[in-house]
Amino acid sequence: MKSDIHEYAIGIFDSGIGGLTVLRAVKKLLPLEHIMYLGDTARVPYGTRSAQTVLKYSIANTDFLLKQNIKLLIIACNTASAIATRALRERYSLPIVEVITPGARGAVAATRNARVGVIGTEATINSGAYQAAIHKLNPRIEVFARPCPLFVPLAEEGWYDPADEIVRLTAQRYLNELKENAIDTLVLGCTHYPLLKGAIQQIIGERVTLIDSAEETAHVVVRVLTDKDLLIKKSGGGACSFFVTDIPHRFTETGKLFLGKEIETVQLVDIL
Ligand code: DGL
Repeated sequence: MKSDIHEYAIGIFDSGIGGLTVLRAVKKLLPLEHIMYLGDTARVPYGTRSAQTVLKYSIANTDFLLKQNIKLLIIACNTASAIATRALRERYSLPIVEVITPGARGAVAATRNARVGVIGTEATINSGAYQAAIHKLNPRIEVFARPCPLFVPLAEEGWYDPADEIVRLTAQRYLNELKENAIDTLVLGCTHYPLLKGAIQQIIGERVTLIDSAEETAHVVVRVLTDKDLLIKKSGGGACSFFVTDIPHRFTETGKLFLGKEIETVQLVDIL
C-alpha cells in the first residue's frame, strides 16, 4: 500500500464504458495522475432505473474504488451524478466531483439568449438535476430538457457517423423540438453523447453551442486537486487501471471508441 496520498489514484466510476469520455478529458489535463476506472457493465444502463437502485449501485462502486487507494472520486455517469451525489458526499469524506454542475456552469457561461437545452437519460432529465443546477446559477435562463435514450445504444454500437441514416433520423426525432425552442446552447448531459457530437451539431444547427460535461468536469478535477494539494508530485506518465463487472472483451472493443486509443488490460471484478 502506498503511503503518500499524492501518489493515490483518481477513482472514476460509470455505469459502463461511457465514462471513458471523462477519463480521456481528465488524462488530457492531468497526464501524470494514476486513474482507477470502474465500469459497472453488469448493471448498465442506469438511465432507465429507479433512483433507489442507482444509489445502491453508486455506493457499491464507491466502496470498491475506495479499496484501490483513491484520493478523489469522479462520478462520471450523469445519471448517478444526478441521483447519488448528495448521498455519496454525506457518506464518504473524500472529495467527490460530479458532472452535472460543471456542465450547467458551461451552459450558463455560453448562452447569449438565455435559452438552454439539456439532453440526457430519462433518469437524469426526470431528476431535474440539470434544470436545478442551471437555475441556481441563473434563475432567468429557460431550460428545455429532453431525454434521448436511444443515443446510448447507438453510441455503444459504434453508430455515430452523422452520415448514417439511422443516426440522423434518431437525432432529428429527438432534437427537432429543441430546435423549435430556439435554444442557443445544448448540454450533452450523458457520457455517451460526446460521441454523437457531429450528428447532434448537424441537426441542431451550427449556431448552437454544444456543452461537453466531460471537458468541464476535468477542469473542476484540476481545481479541486490543486486546492487540496493532492496533485501527484513526481514526473512520468500516470497509469490507468480498468475494472468492469461483466464482459471485459466488450469493454476493450467498444472502449477504444470512447477513449480514442486501445485499452490493454481490463480486470473483471465482483463488487456485489
Ligand atoms: N452513463 C450514463 C449517463 O451518463 C449513460 C448510460 C446509462 O444509462 O447507464 O447518464
